Amino acid sequence: MGSLNDPERKRSSDRRSTTWRPVALVLIVVVAWWHISRVHTRPILERPSLETETPFTWAELNPEPTLQYEPCFDGYQCARLDVPMDYHRADGLGRRVAVAIIRLPAKVPVTNPRYGGAVLINPGGPGGSGVFQALVAGRGLQTIVDAESDPGHNTTETARYYDIIGFDPRGVNNTTPGFSCFPNTFAQRNWELQAEADGMLGSTRDSLMRNWQRTRALNVGCARSLSTPPEVGAEALGEHINTPPVARDMLEIVERHGEWREQQGRTEQQRIDQLHGYDSAQSIVQRTRWHRGGEKLRYWGRSYGTVLGATFASMFPDRIERMVLDGVVDTDKYYLDEGHNAIVDADAIFDRFTEYCDRAGPDKCPLYTPGGRDAIATAYRRLEAQLYHASVAVPSSTTRGPEVVTWTDLKIVLRISLYQPMIGFPLLAQLASDLLHRGDGSALADFKHRARTPSCPTAECLRTGPWSAECQAPGQNELYVSSAILCTDALYMQDRDELAFAESWAAMQRDSAMLGDYWSSIELGCAGWDVRPRWILPGPCSGNTSHPLLLVSMRLDPVTPMRSARIMSSKFPGSVVLEQDSEGHTTAAAPSLCTTSFIRHYFQTGELPPPGSTCAGDLKPMLGPAHVETLFPAEKTWDALESGLLGRQLPL
Ligand SMILES: *[C@@H]1O[C@H](CO)[C@@H](O)[C@H](O)[C@H]1NC(C)=O
Ligand SMILES: *[C@@H]1O[C@H](CO)[C@@H](O)[C@H](O)[C@H]1NC(C)=O
Ligand SMILES: *[C@@H]1O[C@H](CO)[C@@H](O)[C@H](O)[C@H]1NC(C)=O
Repeated sequence: MGSLNDPERKRSSDRRSTTWRPVALVLIVVVAWWHISRVHTRPILERPSLETETPFTWAELNPEPTLQYEPCFDGYQCARLDVPMDYHRADGLGRRVAVAIIRLPAKVPVTNPRYGGAVLINPGGPGGSGVFQALVAGRGLQTIVDAESDPGHNTTETARYYDIIGFDPRGVNNTTPGFSCFPNTFAQRNWELQAEADGMLGSTRDSLMRNWQRTRALNVGCARSLSTPPEVGAEALGEHINTPPVARDMLEIVERHGEWREQQGRTEQQRIDQLHGYDSAQSIVQRTRWHRGGEKLRYWGRSYGTVLGATFASMFPDRIERMVLDGVVDTDKYYLDEGHNAIVDADAIFDRFTEYCDRAGPDKCPLYTPGGRDAIATAYRRLEAQLYHASVAVPSSTTRGPEVVTWTDLKIVLRISLYQPMIGFPLLAQLASDLLHRGDGSALADFKHRARTPSCPTAECLRTGPWSAECQAPGQNELYVSSAILCTDALYMQDRDELAFAESWAAMQRDSAMLGDYWSSIELGCAGWDVRPRWILPGPCSGNTSHPLLLVSMRLDPVTPMRSARIMSSKFPGSVVLEQDSEGHTTAAAPSLCTTSFIRHYFQTGELPPPGSTCAGDLKPMLGPAHVETLFPAEKTWDALESGLLGRQLPL
């Protein structure tokens, strides 16, 4: 990420010249946004961490009932928090979960009066890694929630500086115990390649049969192993992986943070007392005191992270200091299947694609077709129909073997473009034009190829045999943990038979021609998953929170439509919906100085935007001002794609 990596440096040089300020601010937001959006472009294979010189591994930390941070990665601190797998178990025994926690320290010490506390984050998924999010986007998020300018440059007493804390939810990445649905990564890759070749729901006449049988084969075995305890009487992970226990884990993190803060305060007070004589007011101790049983949450969750946030807010409404829900999910729809489909606005985003393509012209939009938006839409649809009937052969190249590009591949690129129009619209225009105008699928083949990862079983794994711990690697089961969480949250998805599913699929296709098949295939992912969670949220998500929530959604979001935000706002008295006039999924999809200032103001002062506020987006896909080229040079964009846009398949 090179020089794009340093919003702070840009910012301090900007201060020299006031005339540059508006442009500079936009730059800051764009740069911060670029950091943040990276979490939605996650590498499928974590090459950087394999090459890193820091020899940190989570296994070297002992799970503890208190937060015991150790330095990790570059400038972060890590801890593993020991919590019960089943909070309701009366005897206090039973299996434990070790929650992986990573802290990006605030820009002031914890004992400083301007220390604002910790902001917990969640990237969505379900199944996304908060540790990964903190590593790639933490600094960008911190820039937004922190007071304007660094502590050294801001002398305002009321300025606040925050820790950013990411954690891996149960079953996810570095939190243990983990699980896998496959005996080793080789078997997993094999399965995934076959599934890709078999094609997505909608790709052929018999696609439902194919996907139904495939999903059952996967889920029956995987769900059985997740609902079977390792020994009689012990807890089964699959029954304790749904959202309510994770919300309870968040409360535990918040309490333990208070305890840890108090400890830091005591140590610092002693040091100061020794240096300057006993302070009878014990002001540091006072300031950092642990409010046992009353510590409050500060939180910023995206997409599925808004389900987690709203769940927390209805379980512990008096424990909220700040909560930003970004890309708001309608929880009644999510948990109970009540209300409109999530994808109702997806086709309108495709309409924007044709509009921007038309305005951008042939130089910036390769799919440009004379005759206006309708002509562009028709061209795209013609390509979809062609690929449905005939895949395109792509001979081998110097970097990869032969490929066939299919209808499914095009639909995946379309999905990426609806979620992330800034990067995805130009990509869709290029790849679709190659295919339509030249019958050339090589760029799409390269794109597929880049998302692939080698998967040879290690020598250790070969020795210890299938299903052994040596054959598993953390972070490989992202898609499957996503189902494990979704299917135990949304029990109706498990309960549908093939006929009921077919009906729901048809309704989904009516709601969105562009995204209906994809979204239905996510729901199909719960077929054959037969696990009942132990802790179910009683009643719908709602609550009178100790501080009002800030809800932010895009005007057009493919899977968390604006209307969901309004529904959720009606359930949390005092909350306000901020609308950003952009397209894409969550505010990570498009930068807006206005949105980030409202979010900062909320974290700094607690004040919400006036009801009905709308923010403009600072950039539009394919129409950006010239300087966007320098911010997103071709190789940066390609880098983002290479690092696996295709790899990020988490729905929410
Ligand atoms: C310092 O922080 C406060 C509180 O967030 C903010 O109002 C003020 O604008 C900041 N001052 C500077 C110079 O950035
Ligand atoms: C899991 O966490 C590690 C850091 O421990 C990170 O490098 C990796 O990218 C994460 N994996 C996923 C799939 O998020
Ligand atoms: C919030 O409190 C008000 C007044 O006490 C009450 O009428 C309302 O039902 C409560 N709402 C929720 C969602 O709990």
